[in-house]
Amino acid sequence: MGFKFHQSSCFSLLLLLLNILLVCVDGEVDKISCDVFKGSWVIDQSYPLYNASFCPFVGKEFDCVKNGRPDQLYLKYRWQPHDCSLSRFDGKIFLEKMKGKTIMFVGDSLSKNQWLSLLCMIHSSVPSARYSVKLSMVDEMTTYTFMDYEVKVMYHHSLYLVDIVEEKIGRVLKLDSITSGKLWLDVDYLVFNTWHWWTRRGPTQPFDFIQYENNITKDMDRVVAFGKAIDTWGRWVDGNIDPVKSKVFFQGISPTHYNGSGWGEPKAQACLGQKEPVPGEKYPGAQPMALEVLETELKTIKKPVTLLDITNLSLLRKDGHPSKYGLPHKTGMDCSHWCLAGVPDTWNVLLNNFMF
Ligand SMILES: *[C@@H]1O[C@H](CO)[C@@H](O)[C@H](O)[C@H]1NC(C)=O
Ligand SMILES: *[C@@H]1O[C@H](CO)[C@@H](O)[C@H](O)[C@H]1NC(C)=O
Ligand SMILES: *[C@@H]1O[C@H](CO)[C@@H](O)[C@H](O)[C@H]1NC(C)=O
Ligand SMILES: *[C@@H]1O[C@H](CO)[C@@H](O)[C@H](O)[C@H]1NC(C)=O
Repeated sequence: MGFKFHQSSCFSLLLLLLNILLVCVDGEVDKISCDVFKGSWVIDQSYPLYNASFCPFVGKEFDCVKNGRPDQLYLKYRWQPHDCSLSRFDGKIFLEKMKGKTIMFVGDSLSKNQWLSLLCMIHSSVPSARYSVKLSMVDEMTTYTFMDYEVKVMYHHSLYLVDIVEEKIGRVLKLDSITSGKLWLDVDYLVFNTWHWWTRRGPTQPFDFIQYENNITKDMDRVVAFGKAIDTWGRWVDGNIDPVKSKVFFQGISPTHYNGSGWGEPKAQACLGQKEPVPGEKYPGAQPMALEVLETELKTIKKPVTLLDITNLSLLRKDGHPSKYGLPHKTGMDCSHWCLAGVPDTWNVLLNNFMF
């Protein structure tokens, strides 16, 4: 006895296959079978997602082409997850889905990097969309509102998420206190980040003491301090976030490329002159030391928090930093921020994938 295929079962099979295909194309991927953070960078001639010279939002410190960066291959890379594909970002659809809602990036200049990237991505899809801008110096907050869609795209500059308070003895970094949390309430999508300032010492360190509970010290292990701050932040999330109203993301740890040993080029002058990503899926060097602490702390939070796990994919992009084409006339080497267009666009593609 052989199998007998009825037309109808053939048809269902076809529908099933079509469905699988559509799911793949749509990027509505099965989260279990596809880890969108595992993959590699491929050249895509349709990239970049926008031309920075037409983006009114791009910060001059990120506009590498304008600042004289001669090579442009770095603009052509698209992140390709190993097991699925991501849908191309469409700013108009984004605004329509966000109608009446607010998204806020909270953190240091890496958050600013991602925030301006998102604004450029939106703008390139709907260049004629009207917008207004509001600055609050006191709160260190900038809000762009796309009026026709009632969508707010905000940035709250906060180096450590926890407080720095001027006291008699000097500026105190308070690991167990978050007063600016009041600015984050009722926001629909919150994307947090902090790390890069935790390792800072010397004249640009913006505090004189570190306080935890009643213990004030001159200094302590910075990764431990970072962990305590993330713990405090997690308790803020648990105490204040209504998961029905607000979705919370942590941007993850954005890596730097100051030491070529990390990618097998110990003689490299930091990231200067790097024109291509590390090929393949695996970065040979170490991961940022804060990552493990961050992952451990995030697990203790009871409310849902999505880690935008951008570390590995960004580690591969030794070519993505401004190097000496950062702030015009600034001496020094920026292998910490990212050129726009560039890597943060991919962070936003991934964020968009998790938002809706
Ligand atoms: C961006 O636009 C400018 C002006 O039209 C053009 O010269 C440049 O080649 C474009 N850059 C990219 C990366 O497409
Ligand atoms: C205060 O912090 C310092 C540095 O981390 C530590 O050595 C000391 O034991 C702490 N004191 C108390 C009472 O926790
Ligand atoms: C770069 O990293 C290597 C290996 O970890 C280390 O031996 C070297 O001192 C580092 N170089 C700089 C300039 O920090
Ligand atoms: C990142 O890379 C490290 C080292 O290769 C690996 O252990 C880790 O699982 C990777 N994380 C993700 C999210 O892919």
